[in-house]
Amino acid sequence: MKDKISFNPIYERRSIRKFQQKDVPAELLNKVLDAGRVAPSAKNRQPWKYIVFGNEPKKELLKSMEDGLQREEKGITNLPKSQHGIADAKNTLRIMREAPIIIAVTNTNAKSPFLPIDNDERITEICDSLSIGASVENMLLAAQELGLGALWIANTCFAYRELTAYINTNEQLACAIAIGYANENPNPRPRKSLDEIVEYRW
Ligand SMILES: Cc1cc2nc3c(=O)[nH]c(=O)nc-3n(C[C@H](O)[C@H](O)[C@H](O)COP(=O)(O)O)c2cc1C
Repeated sequence: MKDKISFNPIYERRSIRKFQQKDVPAELLNKVLDAGRVAPSAKNRQPWKYIVFGNEPKKELLKSMEDGLQREEKGITNLPKSQHGIADAKNTLRIMREAPIIIAVTNTNAKSPFLPIDNDERITEICDSLSIGASVENMLLAAQELGLGALWIANTCFAYRELTAYINTNEQLACAIAIGYANENPNPRPRKSLDEIVEYRW
C-alpha cells in the first residue's frame, strides 16, 4: 500500500519566493482561476472574487502596499501587536514585485476586519474564510500542476486600508496570491508528524 495518496501536487507544492521575468500565458492563468472557482464553500456561497493584477496596475497596487507598510513603520498602526511582522511583510512586497501576476482575493460577503461584528457574523465569516482557503489552495495546486509557482500572501493585512482603497472595494481583502514561473526549487519546509496532530477516539 502506498503511504501517500497519488496526487503529487499536494506533496510537490512549495511556496515560491523567486520568480523568472517571464509572462504567464493567459490560458494557464485561466486554468488556475477556474480551479479556484470550483472549490467547495459553506452553503455553496462561493464568497470569493479574484482581481488579477499585472504590468502597470500591479505596480500601482504594490505602491499602495508600500505606502501602508511605511505608515505602519512610522507607528501609525492598525495592528499594534503585530509590528514584529513588518520586516517579513517588506520581504513579501519584494517578492510580489518580482512575480508577474498578483491575484487579490476578496471575501465578497465580509466587511473590513477593522469594523466590529456580532457572533452570527463571526461564524459566517469563519465559514467564508474557510471556503476562500479551499479556493486558494485549489489555485496553488493547479499552478503546481501547470508548471507555475505561487505564493499565498496574507501580509497584505499591514496595508489593508491602502490596498482596499486602491482596489476600490468595500469587500474584505482576504489575501493575495503571487503567480509566475519559479526561479527556485525550495526544499520542503518542516511539518508536524501525524502523531502530533491526530487524535484517534475510536
Ligand atoms: C494564509 C497564508 C498566508 C501566508 N502569507 C505569506 C506571506 O504573506 N508571505 C510569505 O512569504 N509567505 C506566506 N505564506 C506562506 C507560508 O509561509 C508557507 O506556506 C509555509 O511556511 C510552509 O511552506 P510551504 O508553503 O513551502 O510548504 C502564507 C501561507 C498561508 C497559508
